[in-house]
Amino acid sequence: MSKKTVLVSGGAGFIGSHVSVELLQAGYDVVVADNFSNCDRTCFEGVKKITGREDLPLEIVDFCDEAAVKALFAKYPIDAVIHFAAYKAVGESVAKPLMYYRNNLQSFLSVLEAAQEKGNVNVLFSSSATVYGEPDAVPVTEDTPRKPATSPYGNTKTMCEDILRDTVKASGGKLKGILLRYFNPIGAHPSALIGELPRGVPNNLVPFITQTAIGKRECLSIFGNDYPTPDGTCQRDYIDIVDLAKAHVYAVTRMVEGKMKEECEVFNVGTGRPVSVMELVNAFEKVNGVKLNWKFAPRRPGDVTAIWADPTKANNEMGWHATRTIEETLKAAWAWECHLAGK
Ligand code: WQD
Repeated sequence: MSKKTVLVSGGAGFIGSHVSVELLQAGYDVVVADNFSNCDRTCFEGVKKITGREDLPLEIVDFCDEAAVKALFAKYPIDAVIHFAAYKAVGESVAKPLMYYRNNLQSFLSVLEAAQEKGNVNVLFSSSATVYGEPDAVPVTEDTPRKPATSPYGNTKTMCEDILRDTVKASGGKLKGILLRYFNPIGAHPSALIGELPRGVPNNLVPFITQTAIGKRECLSIFGNDYPTPDGTCQRDYIDIVDLAKAHVYAVTRMVEGKMKEECEVFNVGTGRPVSVMELVNAFEKVNGVKLNWKFAPRRPGDVTAIWADPTKANNEMGWHATRTIEETLKAAWAWECHLAGK
């Protein structure tokens, strides 16, 4: 089989860089495209170093620019596109909804317009467990009903899912799509050459933990200890970033090899294992031998109590499984923070 080419929009970011590594290591040609609006060159350089691919193509493109995206599709023999290029801060989206709707919808529309014009393109959209809202029962399967989004960010995920489904349906077989619904991606590549690089104060739990442990932040606030969970703190499904990245390779391969059962498929990407905030903090301290300064604080508005995946469909249909333990993942997250600090 000739080599297939995958365009990765937002390929220099946290998830995009890990996915690029796994695709390259699986034998795909990769085109990284990014406008560096929310990242610097660190991870792109890391991808080249890990894979030894100094020639890895980088295209600096704003995906809202439809003509520029069409030019990319004309320049490279793109078999599949993985779309990450989007804003992702929940709180910011509440304050600046138009910015989120414009960017997250327009960039995806550009991808779909270009893919449709070219034809025979497989589209993978990075969706989120946020589409399930506060679920009535856990774990959630792909058939668990979606709930109205609680933020413009979440709404853009729901809307892009629908846009992809409708576009694939109307394409008469020219386009195929997979929606991957991520739970909570955490950790870093075991090389410690790529990882999460939040700008300013991190919104997400694990970067806040590692920055507190290294001394960049004074104290971690654990938001709420009176939830109806075993220890009173929220439960999530923390998925290792390398495991998550590998799920993309399985999904792309399924698409390009024509193994799909429906023209637009959806998969949960999670471990199936609930972990509470308190458990995560304890595991971090234990596995890395560091003491974390933390305190209980009021609940954070908009947080759901507990959500974790039923990953059976991804396990059985794609053959993908999460393999890494929470301890391995938290070790990698800490190694990355130490690498950043030059320690
Ligand atoms: C996890 C848990 C917090 C920070 C969000 C998005 C989702 C996805 C991933 C984003 C919660 C608690 C957190 C802190 C804390 N997309 N927490 N102190 O909210 O599950 O999901 O990020 O890119 O769409 O909604 O992830 O990491 O913010 O929080 O106690 O300083 O940690 O309350 O229970 P969340 P998170």
